[in-house]
Amino acid sequence: MALVLLLLLTLSAAAFADEDAFIGVNIGTALSDMPSPTQVVALLKAQQIRHVRLFDADLAMLTAFSNSGIRVTVSVPNEQLLGVGQSNATAANWVARNVVAHVPAVNITAIAVGSEVLTALPNAASVLVNALKFIHSALVAANLDRLIKVSTPLSSSLILDSFPPSQAFFNRSWDPVVVPMLKFLQSSGSYLMLNVYPYYDYMQSNGVIPLDYALFKPLSPNKEAVDANTLLHYTNVFDAVVDAAYFAMAYLNVTNVPVVVLESGWPRKGDSYEPDATVDNSDTFNSNLIRHVLNNTGTPKHPGIAVSTFIYELYDEDLRPGALSEKYWGLFDANGVPVYTLHLTGSGVVLANDTTNQTYCVAKDGADSKMLQAALDWACGPGKVDCSALLQGQPCYDPDNVEAHATYAFNAYYHLMGMGSGTCYFNGVASITTTDPSHGSCVYSSGGKNGTFMNSTSLAPSSNSTAESSAPHCFYGCTNILLQLIGVLLSSLFFL
Ligand SMILES: *[C@@H]1O[C@H](CO)[C@@H](O)[C@H](O)[C@H]1NC(C)=O
Ligand SMILES: *[C@@H]1O[C@H](CO)[C@@H](O)[C@H](O)[C@H]1NC(C)=O
Ligand SMILES: *[C@@H]1O[C@H](CO)[C@@H](O)[C@H](O)[C@H]1NC(C)=O
Ligand SMILES: *[C@@H]1O[C@H](CO)[C@@H](O)[C@H](O)[C@H]1NC(C)=O
Ligand SMILES: *[C@@H]1O[C@H](CO)[C@@H](O)[C@H](O)[C@H]1NC(C)=O
Ligand SMILES: *[C@@H]1O[C@H](CO)[C@@H](O)[C@H](O)[C@H]1NC(C)=O
Ligand SMILES: *[C@@H]1O[C@H](CO)[C@@H](O)[C@H](O)[C@H]1NC(C)=O
Ligand SMILES: *[C@@H]1O[C@H](CO)[C@@H](O)[C@H](O)[C@H]1NC(C)=O
Ligand SMILES: *[C@@H]1O[C@H](CO)[C@@H](O)[C@H](O)[C@H]1NC(C)=O
Ligand SMILES: *[C@@H]1O[C@H](CO)[C@@H](O)[C@H](O)[C@H]1NC(C)=O
Repeated sequence: MALVLLLLLTLSAAAFADEDAFIGVNIGTALSDMPSPTQVVALLKAQQIRHVRLFDADLAMLTAFSNSGIRVTVSVPNEQLLGVGQSNATAANWVARNVVAHVPAVNITAIAVGSEVLTALPNAASVLVNALKFIHSALVAANLDRLIKVSTPLSSSLILDSFPPSQAFFNRSWDPVVVPMLKFLQSSGSYLMLNVYPYYDYMQSNGVIPLDYALFKPLSPNKEAVDANTLLHYTNVFDAVVDAAYFAMAYLNVTNVPVVVLESGWPRKGDSYEPDATVDNSDTFNSNLIRHVLNNTGTPKHPGIAVSTFIYELYDEDLRPGALSEKYWGLFDANGVPVYTLHLTGSGVVLANDTTNQTYCVAKDGADSKMLQAALDWACGPGKVDCSALLQGQPCYDPDNVEAHATYAFNAYYHLMGMGSGTCYFNGVASITTTDPSHGSCVYSSGGKNGTFMNSTSLAPSSNSTAESSAPHCFYGCTNILLQLIGVLLSSLFFL
């Protein structure tokens, strides 16, 4: 196994440029109160989001991106595809107006030509490859082809038999388009834009795909999906779909075109037939996705190879028609208020508003549990900390152990006291850290400015935690049962 991985790693490193994966966001604009372009850019900057994808090439939006340093993928909307694909002059004009006019002030890094054309607009399929070529030749003429990639986002539903990934192939009905499209991507040094929605894969699987597998939660080894042909282990749907795309390309002899995931996400609310569109699942999916991508984990087929990914999407789009969930994919509402707190510990600063100097007060590693208990009792009593979040059924009840509860109370006290010196001491069992101890729906107060993702949005307590039904009601003094529960918790719940 190790040998196989090593071999793949070597091959991959040769095939693809070595670079770090990034997280970007899609910016849909079907909002009844769409923020102004300036407000959008301010939010992106505050959240340190450096890569975005627009669904068009809106002039006001592009103007606002001038000199922002933000990398922008613009799109030729499907409505304009026929024109662009039927006329080199129209394509050249499109590029002149929407791209050349803005560079270099706007850092346009890619053009997405159409959106899921083969599945959403099959009538335009016959002009798709020409559209790619015409747009590209206009970039060549403007000497921008090395800076700006041209590609077309594909729905992952175009890939058939995607498990096991090694047997995946593109729907053969589309070979007359897919084969020349891949040749174009290969010869122009571009990448495959793929939309990956484990939410829909899960929904459509009728129970075959476990929810945890779609959400990147740890699975017991016997539940991991193993590709019998390659012996590669798949621990999440996302990786399996991306590898299916690699295998489907390899089946057509294309092995050196990287994949960029142009859309991925999970809605947090939906119709009654969409019971898994929940805040918890959406937060878990997006948080795990971001950490997975930024860790440069790659996929089992190409470990360590960047799979940069654009989250779908920045804002909730209340005007989108269709299933109720269509309106609830956003990370922010129209006021720029985050819909929930992402859990990104250890993933750097992306999507974090000035968290660098935020500090937390936590129980010291290895501190004596009796001393922690005494300090916890003090904080929740004379210290006047509101410890109700530690009650059974409340967001910070789990993990029900003295370290976690003390951390909650110490941190609350520390912030109650304005993070004054000496307010994170507790007889030496507390210490200050910059790592956010928030987990699940338990959100800790943070320092100084209201960090956007630190907004303690009132999240529903996580739906079904294994331990809560059996433990008694207490904030503290629960140490004994707790110790018994830790094993259960560790094996059944996913914490940071
Ligand atoms: C944090 O975000 C808020 C709202 O998005 C913004 O007003 C504030 O200036 C940001 N803080 C920093 C330091 O970027
Ligand atoms: C534009 O983005 C590319 C790709 O991320 C980067 O290499 C380049 O330095 C950026 N250019 C400017 C002017 O910011
Ligand atoms: C399309 O126009 C570009 C200039 O924009 C030109 O270089 C190229 O040769 C033209 N291609 C075709 C097929 O006419
Ligand atoms: C493959 O594509 C064709 C043409 O769009 C479509 O009719 C067919 O249903 C697709 N096959 C599958 C298995 O999705
Ligand atoms: C891929 O390569 C094999 C072996 O060279 C060849 O037989 C096959 O026709 C190629 N397939 C395509 C789609 O080019
Ligand atoms: C991060 O990557 C390393 C290998 O580079 C891997 O061992 C680890 O499991 C990854 N962590 C996550 C959260 O994906
Ligand atoms: C963060 O702290 C460093 C040193 O502690 C300081 O130089 C910097 O100005 C602080 N940044 C903010 C935004 O407060
Ligand atoms: C943080 O947000 C809360 C609630 O929205 C508000 O009451 C408080 O004034 C804010 N604090 C700062 C420093 O902006
Ligand atoms: C957090 O955001 C929600 C809206 O999503 C808002 O109702 C709440 O007041 C905010 N809380 C704080 C502490 O800012
Ligand atoms: C919680 O678990 C029980 C038993 O496993 C199950 O019947 C119930 O549907 C679950 N509830 C939720 C909200 O997941």
